Amino acid sequence: MFLFPLKIFSLLALFSFTFPHTSSSTAAGGDGASVCIIGSGIGGASVAHFLRRHSTNHHPKILIFERHAIVGGRIASVTIGGDAFEAGASILHPKNYHASNYTNFLNLTRKRPSSSEGSFSLGIWDGNGFVVKTLNLKSKWGIVNKIVSFFNGVSLFMRYGFSLVKMKGFVDETVNKFLKYYEGVETRPVFESVEEMLKWAGLFNLTGKSLKEELVDGVKLAPLLIKELVTVITRVNYGQGVNISGLAGAVSLAGSGRGVWAVEGGNWQIAAGLINSSDVELYLHEEIDSISYLGEYYELNSTKGNAYSCEVAVVATPLDESSIQFSPPVSVPVRQLQHTHATFVRGLVNPVYFGLKAVSEIPELVATIEDPRLPFTSISILKCYNETDMTYKIFSRQAMTDALLDSIFSVRKETVQINWGAYPHYKAPEKFAPFILDGKHLYYVNAFENVASTVETSAVAAENIARLILSRFFGKDSSCPSAIKRTSCSSAEALHSDT
Ligand SMILES: *[C@@H]1O[C@H](CO)[C@@H](O)[C@H](O)[C@H]1NC(C)=O
Ligand SMILES: *[C@@H]1O[C@H](CO)[C@@H](O)[C@H](O)[C@H]1NC(C)=O
Ligand SMILES: *[C@@H]1O[C@H](CO)[C@@H](O)[C@H](O)[C@H]1NC(C)=O
Ligand SMILES: *[C@@H]1O[C@H](CO)[C@@H](O)[C@H](O)[C@H]1NC(C)=O
Ligand SMILES: *[C@@H]1O[C@H](CO)[C@@H](O)[C@H](O)[C@H]1NC(C)=O
Ligand SMILES: *[C@@H]1O[C@H](CO)[C@@H](O)[C@H](O)[C@H]1NC(C)=O
Ligand SMILES: *[C@@H]1O[C@H](CO)[C@@H](O)[C@H](O)[C@H]1NC(C)=O
Repeated sequence: MFLFPLKIFSLLALFSFTFPHTSSSTAAGGDGASVCIIGSGIGGASVAHFLRRHSTNHHPKILIFERHAIVGGRIASVTIGGDAFEAGASILHPKNYHASNYTNFLNLTRKRPSSSEGSFSLGIWDGNGFVVKTLNLKSKWGIVNKIVSFFNGVSLFMRYGFSLVKMKGFVDETVNKFLKYYEGVETRPVFESVEEMLKWAGLFNLTGKSLKEELVDGVKLAPLLIKELVTVITRVNYGQGVNISGLAGAVSLAGSGRGVWAVEGGNWQIAAGLINSSDVELYLHEEIDSISYLGEYYELNSTKGNAYSCEVAVVATPLDESSIQFSPPVSVPVRQLQHTHATFVRGLVNPVYFGLKAVSEIPELVATIEDPRLPFTSISILKCYNETDMTYKIFSRQAMTDALLDSIFSVRKETVQINWGAYPHYKAPEKFAPFILDGKHLYYVNAFENVASTVETSAVAAENIARLILSRFFGKDSSCPSAIKRTSCSSAEALHSDT
């Protein structure tokens, strides 16, 4: 459940708004068909984009339903103290090629993430003291990623030794396997399940073991590195310790690498731009609460009592906390969402909380190890106005109470708290929901979120879903023999030769 008690950018006025009522349904398999997408985050926006990009000879009507007043889902901005910061998905990796292409295609500008300018310091807090504390090292990179730029830092090398090098090797190897998903559609199959998709890239085994098992048994990292630095990174990225799957862990560690970036003015513009450029009917403030299969089409009903019919329906939001009723029912493995409370404070941290004398002694990123007594995951400086006036971001598993905030901050001028159902609670071995929920034309983008939850993994999953729709629905009366359905023949490009 997303709380938006904040002043976020309202896109209402920016989109041509179509008034709801039942949309037409026409003969299946062809044009005039409608694709309904539930959720306007990066997954839903990417499905729309790739349906257009991969098909020139089919132009279905695309409807996107968003229950909030704005698009973007878990990519959102928060305004505090007059400045806007990323409230959800905040950093992009240099090898996030879909996000990168979107940014170019939409004429958006890249920037370094907030608080990346100048020098910064990292402290790993265990409740009694800082087990690691670096001061004023020069770095040009973003928050978590900064940690790894410390690889060269003498203090970390002294503490963790060559395990740092082994860890980087593990991350690079995993990232290289992931790059297979950018191969051209001529050689890259359309995948009917997450398992099949992972096996093809050689990534499936990493979902069978926890990150801890993988790093201890496979990569043979020093236990201290796992307990401290690795745990800090998975906690900051996924709010969870090293029991997450090896694959989610590798993605998390990769996200702490060099060269990370964000979109100037807010990452949400990627989702907004993709929707705006894909000839979509966007319905804001429209919460779908039932999806019923009625033979030739799906009927989607909203909480406002509107009904829509579509030949293809795409769920692009996690079903775990959703109240959508399916008829006939669908079955997905039980999955919990990990809730992360993001608290933004304009004010000043009290050094006494950390047993320090001066504000200047507090590291700019204070991260914590796994210990149930610690009331927060991390506190970082987003922006420093002057020595007594800063904006901070705190991540925690529980909501931060006023009493707790008052013990951590000596000055608190403005506080904004967001409770995100942020990402799945990862475990090993992972179980995956199907991409195709009913064996027909009801699809689920977020099945892939058990792999790892990022902007890029959502885009990769969405592209596959778009290709599944084009081959299974629009390609079904093509001359493609079913025996070679999984190969290039069913690829969207192959459809171009139909006409
Ligand atoms: C991006 O800029 C180019 C050149 O100015 C323009 O042709 C194109 O339409 C723009 N794209 C979008 C999505 O606005
Ligand atoms: C990104 O865009 C370039 C240039 O248009 C294209 O060659 C490449 O295939 C695109 N990458 C992906 C992952 O779509
Ligand atoms: C995954 O594990 C299976 C069974 O343990 C093994 O046969 C296979 O080679 C492994 N695949 C990769 C890519 O490591
Ligand atoms: C990780 O899993 C082990 C074994 O299942 C368990 O003992 C431990 O408490 C878990 N750690 C966390 C942080 O959940
Ligand atoms: C939507 O796209 C048009 C050009 O196609 C552009 O002028 C407009 O600014 C875009 N709006 C948003 C919200 O991106
Ligand atoms: C959806 O709405 C239609 C039209 O109002 C109604 O006939 C139908 O019973 C509703 N379906 C569900 C599952 O509520
Ligand atoms: C810091 O900035 C605030 C306004 O943002 C101002 O009120 C205060 O006087 C400044 N303090 C110093 C030490 O410059």
